[in-house]
Amino acid sequence: GLKIAVIGGGSSYTPELIDGFIKRANELPVNEIYLVDIMDGKHKLEIVGELAKRMIKKSGLSTKIISTLDRRTAIKGADFVMTQFRVGGLKARARDERIPLRYNVLGQETTGPGGFAKAMRTIPVIMDICKDIEELSPSAWLINFTNPAGMITETILKHTNVKTIGLCNVPIGMVKMVANILDVDSAKVKIDFVGLNHLVWGSKVYVNGENVINRVIDKLCDGASLTMKNIPDLKWDKDFLKSLKMIPCPYHRYYYMTDDLVAEEIESSNSEKGTRAEQVQKIEKSLFEIYKNPDLDIKPPQLEKRGGAYYSDAAVSLISAIYNDKREIHTVNVRNNGTIPSLPHDVAVEVNCVVDSTGPKPITVGYLPAKIKGLIQSVKAYEELAVQAGITGNYGTALQALTVHPLVPSVKIAKQLLDDIIRENREYLPQF
Ligand code: NAD
Ligand code: G6P
Ligand code: MN
Repeated sequence: GLKIAVIGGGSSYTPELIDGFIKRANELPVNEIYLVDIMDGKHKLEIVGELAKRMIKKSGLSTKIISTLDRRTAIKGADFVMTQFRVGGLKARARDERIPLRYNVLGQETTGPGGFAKAMRTIPVIMDICKDIEELSPSAWLINFTNPAGMITETILKHTNVKTIGLCNVPIGMVKMVANILDVDSAKVKIDFVGLNHLVWGSKVYVNGENVINRVIDKLCDGASLTMKNIPDLKWDKDFLKSLKMIPCPYHRYYYMTDDLVAEEIESSNSEKGTRAEQVQKIEKSLFEIYKNPDLDIKPPQLEKRGGAYYSDAAVSLISAIYNDKREIHTVNVRNNGTIPSLPHDVAVEVNCVVDSTGPKPITVGYLPAKIKGLIQSVKAYEELAVQAGITGNYGTALQALTVHPLVPSVKIAKQLLDDIIRENREYLPQF
């Protein structure tokens, strides 16, 4: 059986993950799941660890759950390491969301300057984790869920020898939502995905071998919903969608409807509602009250209030495809390698991959159409610079990264953002 190490084990998403392992136990024998956290997360880890044990017990499996603050013991000899940690916690996320709003710039966990700040805090930690993996479990697969997942995966691909796959629930979520819109079984829906993490388009939608993208676009034009819990469900312009001829992901609203979304964020940050991190703090508090109940032994439905729906489906089916040598298609973040010739070879892209025991092999996308090329290329240029800044701590590189970002209007504002981000994250930025 397998040894799994989950870094950031105290996450409220852990019961989702355990549920996924229980559901697939017939194809994926797991001996041990190590839940790793840090001193700050000890309390959460204890509550989640006990719930995980009750869930396993109820399922009748004999998988051992080990909650620990000792990362190295957890990583040693692991077959799969999963990362789902948040450096600085939700307090740091709330700052990431509020700093840009001072300058009328989007304040979001992964998109724009908020995602930049999160990447700067996360890169030193992921590099440390990868050193442990290189030393203690060099053949392990690292399944990275930690945001900004595209940039963190690119960091690992460029700067370590660890075998990694970046994972997001948006593609699988889009498949499920499109199936729902078309009223067909989601197993029948296949989408060709092209793009980057949180900047991915569905270029074709197949049901029974037929491309039905126009039907999906018609439904979206009629107001069908396709979003995540953390993103307001603003409707798309019909002429825009019909001429785009692709399905944008929920995060595209931040680029295509920037004015409306910044206005909405400013309003909510000035009201009782607060930013998303502030809302999530409340959701999390009530989730942990529920998790504490010694009679609870299943994944509670209240977890659906978070944005990470289908995380366990995506993660556990991916691990199973590797373990069982399935040659199954998964939409994941991998090294481009010419898959999208309009982008550099060594960057991370989010595309369909054939996954077997040798890992993910991306399926060629080809040159990007002009409609989406400019946006992808400029966001990727920002990501490349941000990764380099996160590794080196070079102020100039960081300034170039923020300046290149399409949602940052000027050098002046890039600089103010950068100075605020460095000042307010001092304790988490050893590289700067
Ligand atoms: P969270 O705030 O609950 O953090 C999870 C745990 O990480 C906490 O218990 C915390 O103590 C711990 N942690 C912090 N620093 C750590 C370190 N250095 N080592 C080990 N553990 C550490 O966060 P969450 O809301 O559960 O989200 C976890 C991560 O997953 C975030 O990065 C989030 O952005 C990401 N996420 C990704 C997706 C995706 O689609 N890829 C979806 C949802 C969440
Ligand atoms: C989305 C994304 C994640 C993101 C999360 C936010 O679905 O794919 O990458 O971090 O959900 O959810 P939250 O509930 O924390 O706002
Ligand atoms: Mn995501």
